[in-house]
Amino acid sequence: MVLPIHKWYRYTAGFSAIWAKQLIELHKSKGRTRVIDPFAGSGTVLLESEFENVESMGLESHPYIYRIAKTKLAWNYPAEKFKESALLLLHQAKKKKINKTDFPKLILSCYPLDIIQKLEALKQTWLETEQEKEIKDFNWFVITSILRTTSPVGTAQWQYIQPNKTKAKVIDPFVAYESKVNEMYFDMKGLQNKNKNVKHAKLFNEDARDIKSIPKGWGDLVITSPPYANNYDYADATRLEMTFWGDINGWCDLQENVRKHLVRACTQHVSKLGNEIESILSDCKLKPIQEELSEVYEALKLERLKHGGKKNYHLMIAAYFKDLAEVFHSLRSVTNENCLMCFVIGDSAPYGIYVPVDKWLGELAVSAGFDSYSFEKLRDRNVKWKNRKHTVPLQEGRLWIKG
Ligand SMILES: C[S@@+](CC[C@H](N)C(=O)[O-])C[C@H]1O[C@@H](n2cnc3c(N)ncnc32)[C@H](O)[C@@H]1O
Repeated sequence: MVLPIHKWYRYTAGFSAIWAKQLIELHKSKGRTRVIDPFAGSGTVLLESEFENVESMGLESHPYIYRIAKTKLAWNYPAEKFKESALLLLHQAKKKKINKTDFPKLILSCYPLDIIQKLEALKQTWLETEQEKEIKDFNWFVITSILRTTSPVGTAQWQYIQPNKTKAKVIDPFVAYESKVNEMYFDMKGLQNKNKNVKHAKLFNEDARDIKSIPKGWGDLVITSPPYANNYDYADATRLEMTFWGDINGWCDLQENVRKHLVRACTQHVSKLGNEIESILSDCKLKPIQEELSEVYEALKLERLKHGGKKNYHLMIAAYFKDLAEVFHSLRSVTNENCLMCFVIGDSAPYGIYVPVDKWLGELAVSAGFDSYSFEKLRDRNVKWKNRKHTVPLQEGRLWIKG
């Protein structure tokens, strides 16, 4: 990814900034100038709304991803001041002697001790230095964004850690830090010259299932991509970074501090669902899909017994659609009647049992008060890999919801 600001942090869950820009531009010409992204992620839609000079509001409930996006959205901060303060921190960190050798197991399995100690020097200096909030956030961002490129083991950006794999190219932490600062500085300078009057996006660390900060009837264009019902664990994906900063110590912290704020799209998230499942399956917000959902639920419940892992896909699917139903109801109250929504989605087939995600989400949106929906297929999924877990053809595309 080469686009300024967007490229500061590689978020593989992110979608195309160019596509978001084109869509915002098109709808700006049609009079839609209030954009909402309820699953803002790394801030793609909000940044492009700023560059198009339209108002925008976004929500991101993962505290760590929220911080990443929030810092990117501060690209308008005086570039010289940022660079000076960031390099001062580096200068101080280089002088710091770290003798500590006891680090969390995950950190020890990702880095040799000399690299950990340099990263620790940056962290300690960051903790000790008093700086204004924006600078503090930028410096946190710089250190966080180099954690993967400085590890010699398999830590491909935004994936699980693979301690047994090694990377061809590893960068020294101090070198990586300085080059990140320069990259950010040049982007800030360039964009600040180009975009003089910007309508600043508002980003809230808030749950899309219960939107509080966006005024009623405010938005007329929603561009977003929710987590897919495909068992990807957004909380676990930031385990390395959150462990490094001491934000989590283990599974319980991840569950409490991160997972519980997210849409339930992975089995780790529903392991303690218990009796709640009955009330989910009978929830009136799921009415239009209740029968089909119950059938898939029962099929998955039986199917899991045939598999070693006995994954709770039946609970995950039920909780996922309940959460997305809440999101549509919440979005209905913060959008107006001329609103157009575009959800980039993918369907799924856990244990080979097909879940018609586009149809079910469309029906839930209409039952939440939107007028109509249509699905635009973009590409086929699950057609190539020899060792795929099942052969059910899947698709990814855009769910357009009007009204
Ligand atoms: C597919 S990603 C969106 C990526 C984004 N389009 C981008 O370009 O960076 C989905 C995002 O939704 C966030 N999320 C999950 N549950 C949420 C919730 N209940 N409220 C708000 N955000 C949530 C996840 O943390 C993740 O960052």
